[in-house]
Amino acid sequence: MPRGGSIVAVTGTTDVNRVEAPVTVRAYLIVAFAAFGGIFFGYDTGWMGGVLNMDYFINQYTHYEYPNIKYPGLASDSQEIKDYRKHFFVVPQWQQSLTTAILSAGTFFGAIIAGDLADFIGRRMTIIAGCGIFVIGGILETASTGLALMVVGRLIAGFGVGFISAIVILYMSEIAPKKVRGAVVAGYQFCITIGILLANCVVYATQSRRDTGSYRIPIAVQFLWAIILATGLFILPESPRYFVKKGKLDLAADALARVRGQPLDSEYIQDELAEIVANHEYEMSIVKQTSYIGSWASCFEGKITSPASNVRRTMLGICMQACQQLTGINFIFYFGPVFFQQLGTIKDPFLIGLVTTLVNVCSTPLSFWMVERIGRRNILIGGAFLMIIFQFIVGAIGATAGKDTPTHPANPNAVKAMIAFICLNIAAFATTWGPAAWIVIGEIFPLTIRSRGVGLSTASNWFWNCIIAVITPYLVADQDKSAKLGSNVFFMWGGLCCLSFMFAYFFVPETKGLTLEQVDKMLEETTPRTSRGWKPHSTFAGDLHLAEKPIEVAIGTEHVAPKV
Ligand code: BGC
Repeated sequence: MPRGGSIVAVTGTTDVNRVEAPVTVRAYLIVAFAAFGGIFFGYDTGWMGGVLNMDYFINQYTHYEYPNIKYPGLASDSQEIKDYRKHFFVVPQWQQSLTTAILSAGTFFGAIIAGDLADFIGRRMTIIAGCGIFVIGGILETASTGLALMVVGRLIAGFGVGFISAIVILYMSEIAPKKVRGAVVAGYQFCITIGILLANCVVYATQSRRDTGSYRIPIAVQFLWAIILATGLFILPESPRYFVKKGKLDLAADALARVRGQPLDSEYIQDELAEIVANHEYEMSIVKQTSYIGSWASCFEGKITSPASNVRRTMLGICMQACQQLTGINFIFYFGPVFFQQLGTIKDPFLIGLVTTLVNVCSTPLSFWMVERIGRRNILIGGAFLMIIFQFIVGAIGATAGKDTPTHPANPNAVKAMIAFICLNIAAFATTWGPAAWIVIGEIFPLTIRSRGVGLSTASNWFWNCIIAVITPYLVADQDKSAKLGSNVFFMWGGLCCLSFMFAYFFVPETKGLTLEQVDKMLEETTPRTSRGWKPHSTFAGDLHLAEKPIEVAIGTEHVAPKV
């Protein structure tokens, strides 16, 4: 790395096309690696449901005999065994809810705390710390042979996942080149889907073991993700925007040169750095950052009616993630096998569960192209529209030919049609709301509140994720205290997608193809509905007249205050 003791006078540029250095293969590789963090997210949400249904695990938690020992010689689908599994040989509902939801509680707080920490110790170190916390939680989960330790382990591991899920988005958005930022963050979503698939496969492979390996193997596999991510990030550069926020411009220049794959004294690097610094100065002049509490409070400053105000952006991020969860996608992933079983006529509900997970993985890559070509706003509007149609169709078929009652058994073709539309619904989600919700929260915040804004938005995702995990069994299950909505639940999800549709239409701006600093300007000058046509017309460096009052960056020294 070229380093010297020289002072460089950075003047910035007034050319809107020069505010970012050209994209190199190296830049792609760095962000592609960061996307790996998505594997954690997906895997950790994916394994618990399967483990809760494993015979060895149930036996360990309930101390009831295995069904084949209790009823020797009876077929596994005999009525006796079915009843025994329903009433005795099952982890009690409250323990299922607790072990599933405690992860989201950990991630909720983890994401908020990480949003704070990322401004103090840096994005990279926060993610590495998240991996460390996650490993501690994982060790406890693996060692556990009962509820208490498992719950503590899940809570701590959840904390780590909260760190990782929020800050990987922040890190990727800050280092990715604008032209491919959407596509690479969609890569993160792709990794989430792969994580869910891997969890399903590992659980499928170990589920019939009659030893602790049945649940310990799926849990322990996660250590691999932690080691790979932490080691990789140790080598990767810190986000230059973090150093700008800290006023360490020499380190910012160094980090920027590394993520762009350019020499430190390249004009491109100096122009891009100047633009980030000028934008930060401008933001600081609008919202004064005072105390610790004051800096949290600034996330909620300004008028909610103004698209560029901090409060509006924070609410945009929080509601965006709430709407993503309320599309009902996790109903399918968490509750799919049970739901498919209730439809009757399906022989292997787990296999259908695997198919839905595969559809999720295979359709996500299309979004790499769509987010950059069609744009974030349009795919969110279009995706919500498609999900309304598909979910209403599933509900309508279910309410008529698909209903399984003693007098009118479900029509097998109707059930197949329902599954086909559920798969189409997953594909609609995977190409639109899945990636775009994460992309948008990484792009809409100014640097002054970015890490906290992303943390709060991610926390909202986990909050709603948890609510859905806890309430859906009570909405759909065929149990006494359940609302027994059955397939009518799809009318509910379809109705909620109408909200997501309106939210996207009225509140989501188009951010594609802009640098994070240009997004700031666009929000000031447009409304969500007019944002698509906005073109950058000036630079922050130009507006602040850096040509006359350059920023001096001392390369190779500890700290340099900007002279703007
Ligand atoms: C969501 C998760 C969901 C996953 C499915 C993500 O974007 O936030 O809750 O399980 O997509 O692929």
